[in-house]
Amino acid sequence: MKLITLITVLTFGAGLYAQPAGYNYDESKVPEYKLPEVLKLATGRTVMSVSQWQEKRRPEVLELFRKHVYGRIPGDVDNSFISVLQEESNQALGGKAIRRQVRLYLKVKGESPYIDLLIYLPKKELLRDGSVPIFTGLNFNGNHTVTLEKQVPVHSKWSRNDPRVGHKDNRANEGSRGVKIERWQPEMLVSQGFGLATAYYGDIDPDFDDGWKNGIHTLFPSSTKLKKDEWGSIASWAWGLSRMMDYFETDEDIDHQRVALTGLSRLGKTALWAGAEDERFAIVISTDSGCGGAALSRRVFGETVKRINTSFPHWFCDNFNQYNDAEHHLPVDQHMLVALIAPRPVYIASAIEDVWADPKGEFVSGLEASPVYELFGKVGTGTAEHPPVDNPIGDYVGYHMRSGDHDANRFDWEQYIRFAKRHFKLN
Ligand code: GCU
Repeated sequence: MKLITLITVLTFGAGLYAQPAGYNYDESKVPEYKLPEVLKLATGRTVMSVSQWQEKRRPEVLELFRKHVYGRIPGDVDNSFISVLQEESNQALGGKAIRRQVRLYLKVKGESPYIDLLIYLPKKELLRDGSVPIFTGLNFNGNHTVTLEKQVPVHSKWSRNDPRVGHKDNRANEGSRGVKIERWQPEMLVSQGFGLATAYYGDIDPDFDDGWKNGIHTLFPSSTKLKKDEWGSIASWAWGLSRMMDYFETDEDIDHQRVALTGLSRLGKTALWAGAEDERFAIVISTDSGCGGAALSRRVFGETVKRINTSFPHWFCDNFNQYNDAEHHLPVDQHMLVALIAPRPVYIASAIEDVWADPKGEFVSGLEASPVYELFGKVGTGTAEHPPVDNPIGDYVGYHMRSGDHDANRFDWEQYIRFAKRHFKLN
């Protein structure tokens, strides 16, 4: 057993979930660091009021993330789409739900690229005030993996090869139907009065480094020759989430003012960035989002900026490469991303065995974003202590580190539902 694996197992107890070797998993080796001050304007003055945050500092921070981390949306991108209802049933999930499948053609009706939305809503008679709050987010493997219902087709697009899911030759197949139900919990959501709307992330941009020759990049000429500060895949996926939000605004069964956005891992990074860019998302939740998500880059714990830029060169804008092995030069750190969600509630979830994603770094981000919530008279994490396992904490910045490893499961969703009910005042 490699030393680093041994350390991981010893420190985090359960299981033999090995993390990539050659990275730091030792708290005592975290370098000393100084975070950029979230409430200090570029002029050096301290932000003292909500209006200074909203009008001056928030735009500054957003711009820093666009320029140095995720990339801005190129100027020729237009947001138009045409939605076409593909299928609907009011006898879904054992008669408890409405299932609606809607295709968002991103430019030309009848042509690729398009986003296929799978929507489950509690039955009409259960709807309060005629519309329901929903959870939304992108999925990794296709809408058919979120349900056993055969009416949801297997997509025929590029798919990640994943032996756990059974996708190979970059194609999805019927064998993976329903394998991610645990990760999305449609039945629990519907029984608790929430809808679920999800789409396959590959509908927006297939997740490989291809020089921007597919997905939405084919729509906009500038996307084929991107500038150093223009979007990578994470910002593209986030843009797709905003188009989904545009659709929710047109669906009268969806309470578009109560949309909770969530995502796991790279799609948790995406949820945070989408929530920063688009303030229509009322709650933002990231699960195990790690490096480039909720985890502080300056801790250099688990995955690093250099490693993420090397393994996934298409996720961030080119400028982010400047910070490989130079996290301390970044003009931002990820607590400032969390702060961009304020004053909207944000929830950060970690898993104790997912040391690659740096649970402590994810917590400290939420903690360090809390002063911005306090400016609004709200409590953030409410404690400076990283809580023990399976102990949810926080008011406007919710946090837990659950037992187990990298995934989203029933425990996570129970916390998200409770958090959303509290903030949406649904109890
Ligand atoms: C890799 C990557 C992470 C990412 C994860 C995922 O582990 O290093 O940054 O979050 O994949 O998206 O599953």
